[in-house]
Amino acid sequence: MTADADFNPHSLTEQDFLDEVHSFQFWFDSVEGYLTDRVYGKLDSTVEEEIDDARRERLITTLCNYAVGETAALEGSAGLVRIAPDRNSKIFMATQVADEARHLEVFLHRLRELGVVDPESEIERRAQPALVDFKGSLLELVSEGDWQAAVFAQNVILESMEYTVFRVHAATADAVTKDVLAGVISDERRHAGFGENDLGRSLATDPSGRRRLREIRSHLDPMVLGVFEAALDDVGALAPERSRIAGEYLETVERLGLT
Ligand SMILES: [Fe+2]
Ligand SMILES: [Fe+2]
Repeated sequence: MTADADFNPHSLTEQDFLDEVHSFQFWFDSVEGYLTDRVYGKLDSTVEEEIDDARRERLITTLCNYAVGETAALEGSAGLVRIAPDRNSKIFMATQVADEARHLEVFLHRLRELGVVDPESEIERRAQPALVDFKGSLLELVSEGDWQAAVFAQNVILESMEYTVFRVHAATADAVTKDVLAGVISDERRHAGFGENDLGRSLATDPSGRRRLREIRSHLDPMVLGVFEAALDDVGALAPERSRIAGEYLETVERLGLT
C-alpha cells in the first residue's frame, strides 16, 4: 500500500492502519514528496539572501538549540526502538531515528553555511541549560524502560513544541532556512501524530496512567517551553505567534486528558 492521494487510512481496520502508517513503505512515500529534490534541505532554485551580523548571530543561537533538541530526539528514538512494546512501534521509531539524524544533519550544515567552523563547540557554548536538562530527563525515562513516559516526553512535549516553533520561525526565516525548516516540519508532524495516537490508545485502557503523565508533564514541559519561547524571541516572532506554542501544545495535552 502507498501514501498516495487515493489512499484513505480510515478505510482500514485498526491493526492494518497501524501496519500501514508505521512502516518504512509509508515513510518512503511520505518523504519522497518533500525531500528528494533538496540537498541538505535546500531547493536548487532558492537563492541565499543577505543576512546582517546581528540576525546571523541570533539565527546561529537558535539553530544550536534546535540541534540540541534534534540530538535528544535522535538518541531518544534510538533507545525507544529497543523498548517499544510491539514490532510496529519499533519500525516507526526506526523511521524516526532516520528523520532526527537528518534534521540534525541539515541544521549542522546550515550552521556551517552561516560561518560556524566548529558546530560541536558552538552548540556546547550556546545550548540553553534547560534543554540540556530535558534531554537528560528524556534519556533517563528511556533507560528506565518507561515507554509511555518517554513517548510522552519526546513525541508529545518535544515534538509538538518543535512543530509549532519551526512553523512560526519558517514564516520569518531567510529563504534557505525556510526551505530547511519546511522539510523538518513535515517530519515533526508525523512524529507528534504517532505520540498522540500511541498514548491515546494506551491511556484508553489504562486511565491511571494519566496521573503519572501529568506529574511528568509538570516537571518536563516548563523546560522545553521556556527554551522555545526564547528561540522565538531570537527569530523576532511577534507576541501572538509566541503564544501559539503554549496554545497548540495545550490542545494536544487536553485531547489526551492530561491537563
Ligand atoms: Fe526532529
Ligand atoms: Fe521529531
